[in-house]
Amino acid sequence: SDTEKGTYPHFMLKEIDEQPLVMRRIIQSYQDDFDRLKLAPEIRGAMKRCDRIYIIAAGTSYHAGLAGKQFLENMAGIPTEVHVASEFSYNMPLLSEHPLFVFISQSGETADSRSVLVKIKEMGHPALTITNVAGSTLSRESDFTLHLHAGPEIAVASTKAYTAQIAVLAILAVDTARAKEIRLDFDPLQELAIAANAIEVLTDQKETIEELVRSNLATTQNAFFIGRGSDYFVCLEGALKLKEISYIQAEGFAGGELKHGTIALIEEGTPVIALATQENVNYAIRSNVQEVVARGANDMIFSMRGLEQDSDAFVVPQVHELIAPLVSVVPMQLLAYYAALHRGCDVDKPRNLAKSVTVE
Ligand code: G6P
Repeated sequence: SDTEKGTYPHFMLKEIDEQPLVMRRIIQSYQDDFDRLKLAPEIRGAMKRCDRIYIIAAGTSYHAGLAGKQFLENMAGIPTEVHVASEFSYNMPLLSEHPLFVFISQSGETADSRSVLVKIKEMGHPALTITNVAGSTLSRESDFTLHLHAGPEIAVASTKAYTAQIAVLAILAVDTARAKEIRLDFDPLQELAIAANAIEVLTDQKETIEELVRSNLATTQNAFFIGRGSDYFVCLEGALKLKEISYIQAEGFAGGELKHGTIALIEEGTPVIALATQENVNYAIRSNVQEVVARGANDMIFSMRGLEQDSDAFVVPQVHELIAPLVSVVPMQLLAYYAALHRGCDVDKPRNLAKSVTVE
C-alpha cells in the first residue's frame, strides 16, 4: 500500500521506484479515450486570459517550477516567472496587467506559499494550485486545482512529487497550446509516456549508481553540480537532495558561473557532477568540466543518449530535450539515496527537516 514500505528498506527508494507508475497515472487521469485533455474549461480560460504566469513554491516544488517555466514559455507561449514563496511575500515584483498565479506544493500546506496566496487573493488575482493533497489549504483557497496523483509521499526528501509536478505542468502547457491553436512539432503526451519507460530503465540501474557513490561520494565533504539550461535546474534539485539526506555540502551551479567564483573551491578530488542532456549547451558544459578537471576535480558526467562520450559516468535514455529533467533527476535522486545510506544517515527522516512546513 501507499503508506507501507513493503519489501523496501526506505520510503524514499519505494517512492523513486513508483515514478513510472505515477507518470502513467497522470497521463491516464488527464486524458480521455480520444486523446483529449480533461482540464476544467475554467483553467483553460484563465490560461488563455493571463498575460504572465507567476509560479510560487518552496524547496523541491520551486525546482519543479523552474522546469515547468520551460513548458509554459515554449509550448504555451506565456511569459513565466518562478518565485521562492518566502521571498515573494516580502519583496513582490511589479506585476503584469493580467497575472495568473500558479502555486506548486506537494502538501498544499506550506505557510510561505499560503501567505502569498492570501496576499494575491486580496489583490483580486486568480490562483491555480498544483498539489498532491486534495482538500489541502492551498487547494481550498485557490480558484482552481490540478492534482498530482502521486499517492502519499512519506519520505521527507521529495522525489515522485517533483516528477509529477513537472508532468502536470507539461500537461497544463499542452492543454493551453491546444486551446490557443499553437502547433507543436512533437506530441508531448507521447513524450511523457516515453519518459515513463525511461525512468523505469533508470530504476533498474541502481547498482551502477550505488557503485558511483561508493567510489566518489562515500567520504567527501562537498560536491558540486553543474549544468546549463534546464540541466541547471536539475542540478539545483540534485544538490538539494544530496544535502538534505546525506549532509554533504552540495551546491548546484550554472556551468558558466563557475569561473566567477565557485571554481576557487575546487581541490584535488572534489566531486563535480555535470549534467549534459541539452544539445545546444553540450559543448559548453563539457568545456566547464574540463576547467574543473584541470584543477583536480573528480568529474562525473551524466549525459543523455545521443550526446554521450566514452568517458561519461552515466548515460540516461534519450527523451525529448524539453522533458529531460523528468529523466535526468532520477540518477540524482539515487545518488542522494545511496550517499545517505553509505554514510549511515536516516534516509527517510533527515535531521532538522519536516515534510511540510506550516510556519513562516
Ligand atoms: C519542506 C520539505 C521539502 C519541500 C518543501 C515544500 O521543506 O522538506 O521537501 O520541497 O517543504 O513543500 P510543498 O509541500 O509545498 O511542496
